[in-house]
Amino acid sequence: MPTAYRSALLYSLDDPATVGAAASYRHHEDGLLLVEDGLIRACGPAGELLPGLPAGTPLRHWPDALIVPGFVDTHIHYPQTGMIGAAGEQLLDWLARYTYPAERRFADSAYAERVARIFVAELLRNGTTTAQVFASVHPASVDAFFTVAAELDLRMLCGKVLMDRNAPPELCDSADSGYAQSRALIERWHGHGRLGYAVTPRFAGSCSSAQLRRAAQLLDEFPTVRLHTHLAENRAEIAWIESLFPDCASYLDVYARHGLLGPRALFAHAIHLDDGDCRRLSRCGAAVAFCPSSNLFLGSGLFDLARAERLGLKVGIGSDIGAGTSFSLLRTLGEAYKVEQLQGRSLDPFKALYLATLGGARALGLEGRIGSLAPGHEADFVVLDPQATPLLRFRLEECTDLAERLAVLLTLGDDRVVRETFVAGVSRHRRDG
Ligand code: GUN
Ligand code: ZN
Repeated sequence: MPTAYRSALLYSLDDPATVGAAASYRHHEDGLLLVEDGLIRACGPAGELLPGLPAGTPLRHWPDALIVPGFVDTHIHYPQTGMIGAAGEQLLDWLARYTYPAERRFADSAYAERVARIFVAELLRNGTTTAQVFASVHPASVDAFFTVAAELDLRMLCGKVLMDRNAPPELCDSADSGYAQSRALIERWHGHGRLGYAVTPRFAGSCSSAQLRRAAQLLDEFPTVRLHTHLAENRAEIAWIESLFPDCASYLDVYARHGLLGPRALFAHAIHLDDGDCRRLSRCGAAVAFCPSSNLFLGSGLFDLARAERLGLKVGIGSDIGAGTSFSLLRTLGEAYKVEQLQGRSLDPFKALYLATLGGARALGLEGRIGSLAPGHEADFVVLDPQATPLLRFRLEECTDLAERLAVLLTLGDDRVVRETFVAGVSRHRRDG
């Protein structure tokens, strides 16, 4: 039996940078979403679809809400949930002072499962239904995360961190053990329900050549697993990595020479790249994660979204918790807007919607499954409440069109506007009150 959901509906059709804002989205002021067996069966104006509903179809109606696809967070670290806001350092010192000590605790699998539960609840409270997630170096940290995600039938990507040097010894694996552990995790979890595995070398600074090659071997052996790592985040990091790999032409070239560049790869940050490297990423079909709150918090730099658009580079949005400061992709897009402003541009609200939904799905190779409300997609969607706060209610009264309302929602919105989050057609978070 299908279930019908009536509300305003909004979703992206394509990237506003390629088709223009007006052609990039579909909006039904009074829309209807028909969901059955975890999939969207129909999506259109309520006036057209209501008469055709089978008698007795359950119907939920939110006259003042806005339904959008579930948000897609393309880069986030679940073991860093307990260290958000660890202040005072830039990347390399922040890793040594805060991150590695926090990740050490994931040797304890009961602790890992506790944090995984808190983390997933926080994603859902913020309307995020898919994320590509760094676990820690401990294989059991991946088991903990995937166990929790599987219980809720979430579409999630995760991987065990590979790091065999330049980190505390108790956090290091080896090229061989990291390979074997990743392989076992892939066999256990990849394609289990809606879960997928991402081979996760932390970054070139923490992986030997042998380990990067073993990561590439996994990608060869498992043609649908993905690659998830960091790239060109911080200037000191880049100088250090170039000194570790003197034969490589650039930070990106390190990954390229080890066979890690390709359409299944996503590189987080990708801030300090030259046009040649950007073009190389684009040509091979790789994606990057724009992580504005993290890039600002760690003082890493300003991601050049306009260049990515010009060169046809796939971009998703990433919260990058715990260097990032909010689980909310609405808040994160608000920060992206400011990053654009600092470079003399603006962020079109429909581009922002695209980045957090369809653009993220494309960046993770999940287009056609998530990121849209079009029929055939998995029924991951969020009911947003534009009346969530007195200020929003008042501010939105002043708006004259959809673009303005969306821009205000991105500026003032956070977890309070997420009224309900649906995963494969099942309500998994309902805001109190
Ligand atoms: N580079 C290598 N590891 C990390 C990490 O945990 N967070 C961020 N932001 N950058 C990294
Ligand atoms: Zn990161």
